[in-house]
Amino acid sequence: MTDVQSSLLLAWFDETRADLPWRLPSGSDARPDPYRVWLSEVMLQQTQIETVIPYYQRFLAAFPDVVALADAPLHDILKAWEGLGYYSRARNLHKTARIVAGEMGGQFPRTVDGLMRLPGIGRYTAGAIASIAFDQPAPVLDGNVIRVFSRLLDLPDDVTQTATKNRLWDYAAQNVPQKRAGDYNQALMELGQKVCTVRTPDCGACPLRGSCLAYARGTQAERPVKARRAAIPHYDVAAGIVYRADGRFLIAQRPPEGLLGGMWEFPGGKREAGETLPQTLQRELREELALEVEVGELFVVVRHAFTHFKITMSAFICQHVGAEPQAIEAQDFAWVTLADLDAYSFGKADRDVIAALHERGDLLL
Ligand code: ADE
Repeated sequence: MTDVQSSLLLAWFDETRADLPWRLPSGSDARPDPYRVWLSEVMLQQTQIETVIPYYQRFLAAFPDVVALADAPLHDILKAWEGLGYYSRARNLHKTARIVAGEMGGQFPRTVDGLMRLPGIGRYTAGAIASIAFDQPAPVLDGNVIRVFSRLLDLPDDVTQTATKNRLWDYAAQNVPQKRAGDYNQALMELGQKVCTVRTPDCGACPLRGSCLAYARGTQAERPVKARRAAIPHYDVAAGIVYRADGRFLIAQRPPEGLLGGMWEFPGGKREAGETLPQTLQRELREELALEVEVGELFVVVRHAFTHFKITMSAFICQHVGAEPQAIEAQDFAWVTLADLDAYSFGKADRDVIAALHERGDLLL
């Protein structure tokens, strides 16, 4: 991008930039707190700005600095993250807070390479923190920036290919200005969010229109080029709301790593070929918790989409028979009442089951 283009972009940003809680007021010469930049960028990795804002504010009130976050139990962090999804982000946040507050004496690394050694910080997040918090001329590339660049260059290549992404990273690195790199990067992202949008871009409002090759050729709608994704697999999952004689029911904690690591759930698992859902449930409860149950009525069916697959989860009312469970493939388990559940963190599908229990759980007993 030429100096003229980046000046046009920065002038547009100065005039129209969004007022976001992790940004300093427009025109301020101070640098934002690296902790806040890091926190906001990790939250924004997979989540829309409007969703992030209330989480960011609550999170910052609960954990105002990196030392407070490092000292907090992981459980409290997962609870504050509940509903944002991609929970490995919260676990990595805790790991990184401990490293920064401990061996780094409370100071984040200032370079892309130093930042990328921390858990949960990839090339994008390192570039965002280095440029926004430390004023380094480091590039960023996210979905918005890819769209802006691929239109500006009228790029015919498939941007889902690693080779194309690497070339776009090179382009980003060559073009990031020495001065105001943080504003420039945020301007590119914001241009992608507000003007150079996926459908019907508002080219009339674009500061880069004069040099945009896709605009000149009328190919905006064909850029970026993306190969069709393979179909997302779907799984049927059975879960148990397992009651014991005193009216409490069982929840289990998932292993620390992997999908929804450390979160709580109604125990169960994926259906295997040839099984009925009640058979799946009995098998999974034996494997995970050495638990014997009588499977009763189907209580609710919920659906959820993860990044790489979708599930339909059928939750059955069960009665516990036999011995106390054991945490075999679970980290822990607890017998609880509905009122106790606020103290535990759950993924979206399980929270939908809890909502159904709040609505009509009294019918059960
Ligand atoms: N998306 C992710 N980080 C952002 C930022 N700092 N400004 C605008 N959009 C973003």
